[in-house]
Amino acid sequence: VPTALIDKFGRRVSYVRLSVTDRCDFRCVYCMSEKMTFLPRDQVLTLEEIGRVASAFASLGVEKIRLTGGEPLVRRGIVELVDYIGTLGLSDFTMTTNASQLDRFAKPLKDAGLHRLNVSLDSLQPEKFRRITRIGDLNKVLAGIDAALEAGFERIKLNAVIMRGRNDDEVLDLVNFARDKHIDISFIEEMPLGHISDHGRDETYCSSDEVRTLIESVYPLNALSVHTGGPSRYFAMPDSSSRIGFISPHSHNFCGDCNRVRVTVEGRLLLCLGNEHSLDLRPILRDNPSDNQPLIDAIISAMDLKPEKHHFTTDGDVQIVRFMNMTGG
Ligand code: GTP
Ligand code: 5AD
Ligand code: SF4
Repeated sequence: VPTALIDKFGRRVSYVRLSVTDRCDFRCVYCMSEKMTFLPRDQVLTLEEIGRVASAFASLGVEKIRLTGGEPLVRRGIVELVDYIGTLGLSDFTMTTNASQLDRFAKPLKDAGLHRLNVSLDSLQPEKFRRITRIGDLNKVLAGIDAALEAGFERIKLNAVIMRGRNDDEVLDLVNFARDKHIDISFIEEMPLGHISDHGRDETYCSSDEVRTLIESVYPLNALSVHTGGPSRYFAMPDSSSRIGFISPHSHNFCGDCNRVRVTVEGRLLLCLGNEHSLDLRPILRDNPSDNQPLIDAIISAMDLKPEKHHFTTDGDVQIVRFMNMTGG
């Protein structure tokens, strides 16, 4: 029986989010500032190092790995990494992507052993989509979603960050899109990571309860007990296989059930999305190129650093300096 990862509050860590790049071919307003600088190559873990981190966690009883970014599909060699992690015997192996390149990657990713995909989609209107992503092309994303369905991914989930005045008028259109495609969708309250200049986050805050009331004016929602291991609370609609999820860091705190940690592409093990508690794994990886035991020991010891909860607010205070693309959401 492998050593389980248990923190000071008795929570078991069974889910790891690995960021494979800080780069992205979009510049979403809630994620990046207009001018972003990206990490120099020597500070970025190699694919082999990321594979070693994944393997260390798998040996510690982690059952779920999600690859994130930035945008994971801009990392060269990503399919080879998926192929390797696919051999670790995980019960859930998944990726969060903006789908801009899924058109050509969906099939190779499926063949390489990825189980599931979450796709960020905040608007179905080309102009608005462009304003939110600054440089994204909606048509490519829609083609990417179709390619993922074609490739046979079991469950695809859309993620929509709802912001007042930006896309709060599209909630029902997004629900209907998910229903038409027979896929799930989660509505997310924006979190204050990184200083972004485009909008004051206090002005655009839109609570999940508001979104839910809007949906319920058309479709009754029944709470489900399903758990993907992520923070979404899921609901069913009577006449559809699509599930509606709400990720509500502000209005329904889910930290008590937290089962996850993150590793940035610099190799920083982050114990919480909303705190800076971390351990730098990169020197351990590089000082011990052919021995994973020191890495495993370090991960076990880091569990004591995991804080109880985040302290995000909606009042516009920047809580965390780190940008979302460094953290992978
Ligand atoms: P599933 O495995 O499908 O449940 O996905 P997920 O919700 O775990 O991951 P996804 O990458 O789709 O993230 C959706 C949203 O949830 C993003 O906005 C993440 O930042 C947010 N999220 C995921 N985990 C946490 C967490 O531990 N704390 C907070 N505050 N937000 C989180
Ligand atoms: N608040 C909430 N969600 C965010 N995401 C990116 N930045 C933020 C933020 N500030 C979401 C993206 C993606 C997921 C990984 O995180 O929409 O779907
Ligand atoms: Fe790129 Fe995702 Fe950040 Fe948008 S949210 S800029 S798609 S990493």
